[in-house]
Amino acid sequence: MGGQLRNRRVLLGVSGGIAAYKSAELIRRLIDLGAEVRVVMTKAAQEFITPLTLQALSGFPVSTDLLDPEAEAAMGHIELARWADLIMIAPASADLISRLTLGQGDDLLTTVCLASRCPIAIAPAMNQAMWHHPATQANLVTLKERGIHQFGPDSGGQACGDVGLGRMSDPDDLAQAISSVFQTRLLEGKTVVITAGPTREAIDPVRYISNHSSGKMGYALAQAAVDAGAKTLLISGPTNLSAPDYVKRIDVISADDMYKASMNSLDECDIFIASAAVADFRPASIAEQKIKKTGQETMSVDMIKNPDIIASVAAANKRPYVVGFAAETQQVIDYARDKLIRKNLDLIIANDVSNPDIGFNSENNAVTLVTKDSETALPENSKTQLARDILEVIAAQYSRN
Ligand code: PMT
Repeated sequence: MGGQLRNRRVLLGVSGGIAAYKSAELIRRLIDLGAEVRVVMTKAAQEFITPLTLQALSGFPVSTDLLDPEAEAAMGHIELARWADLIMIAPASADLISRLTLGQGDDLLTTVCLASRCPIAIAPAMNQAMWHHPATQANLVTLKERGIHQFGPDSGGQACGDVGLGRMSDPDDLAQAISSVFQTRLLEGKTVVITAGPTREAIDPVRYISNHSSGKMGYALAQAAVDAGAKTLLISGPTNLSAPDYVKRIDVISADDMYKASMNSLDECDIFIASAAVADFRPASIAEQKIKKTGQETMSVDMIKNPDIIASVAAANKRPYVVGFAAETQQVIDYARDKLIRKNLDLIIANDVSNPDIGFNSENNAVTLVTKDSETALPENSKTQLARDILEVIAAQYSRN
C-alpha cells in the first residue's frame, strides 16, 4: 500500500446524510495511505453513523461538540484547527455547504473550518434536486473562489430513488484526490539528493564517535521532495527511520561513505541538500581489536579531518544547486552566512540548536533560510511542515537561478 499521505494529518468532517456510512471506508483508505485521521461529526451525522464506529476506525476519540468542556480540554476547536494539514468534509450536505459559505460557526465543524488556515475540501452528497438548486450552486461558486477544493459528486441512483448528480464520490477516489492536494509538482522532472542523519566514525570494532542527529529533518525533506514531484535520493547515516515511499535510499555509516555516495550521485543531481550532521573529524586509525582498558585515567584518540562533502559538491564540475544546513548555538545567522560563502553554497538553512526543544532529535525546528542577498525566517513548526516550506523556497530560488 502506498504512503502518499504519510505524516499528513487529515481532519475528516462528517455532516448529515446517508453517505455518512462511506466516511468509515474513507478513514480506512486514508490510513492505508499513511495519514493520521481525526474525525469531527455534526449532530445530524450522528443520526446516520455512530461516533464509536469512526472512533474505532480512526483510533482517536471523535469530536462532536463545541461546548463540551471535557472535549475542549482534550483537543479544543483551535487545537484541532491547528493540528490539521487538511480538512476533508465528506459527506458535505447542502446545509453544511450553505453554513460554510456564510462563514457560520454554529457547530464544531464549521468553527474548526473558520479557525483553520489549512486547505479545506468538500465531497458534496445530496439529492440531485438539492444539488441543482441555484442556492447550492451559488454557494459552490463562492467556496471555489475561496480556494476550497471540491471532489465530486458522482452521478447515479440515489438513496431516495432519484437518479442524477449528488452521490458522494467513492472513498478510493476521494483518498487519491486528497493526496493530490499535497502534490505541488514544484520540482517535477528534477532530481533532488539529500544527506540525512549522523555519521559514525569508528574507533575500534565496537566503539564510534557520532552525534544526536535523528535524521528526521532530512527524511521530512525527502518526503517533501517526493510530494513536489522530484526524483529523490536519500543518502542516510544510521537512523531508526524508514524511507518515505518513492525515495531511493542509500545507507552509509561514515562521513567517507557519505562523501563517496554523494559524489557518485552528481551526474543526475539538480538540487543537493545537505541536512546530515557529518562528523568533522574521524579517528586517524581504527583499532583492529577492541581497545582494552590500560588502568590509566585518560586516553586520547588522534583525529584527522573528514572530507567536506558539501564543499566538494559545490566545487564539482557538474555543480547542482547546493543547499546546506548550519546548526549553531550562537551568532546563528552570522556563522551560517560565513559557511554559505566559505563553502560556496547557493542557500544555507540556519537552525539555532541552543534550544533543546528544536533542532537535533526533536519533532520541531525553527530555521532561517539565508542566501547571499536574502533571509527568510520560518518560525517553529513540525519538521514535516518546515520541510514543505523549505522546498517551496528552494524551488523558487532554483528556478530563478
Ligand atoms: O537529524 P535531526 O535530528 O532531524 O536534526 C536536524 C539537524 C539539526 C541535524 C539539521 O537540521 C542540521 O542542522 N544539519 C547540519 C548540522 C551540522 O552539523 O552542520 P555543520 O555546521 O557541521 O555543517 C554545515 C553544512 O556542511 C551542513 O550542511 C553539513 O551537512 C555539511 N557538512 C559538514 C561537514 C562535512 N564534513 N561535510 C558536510 O557536508
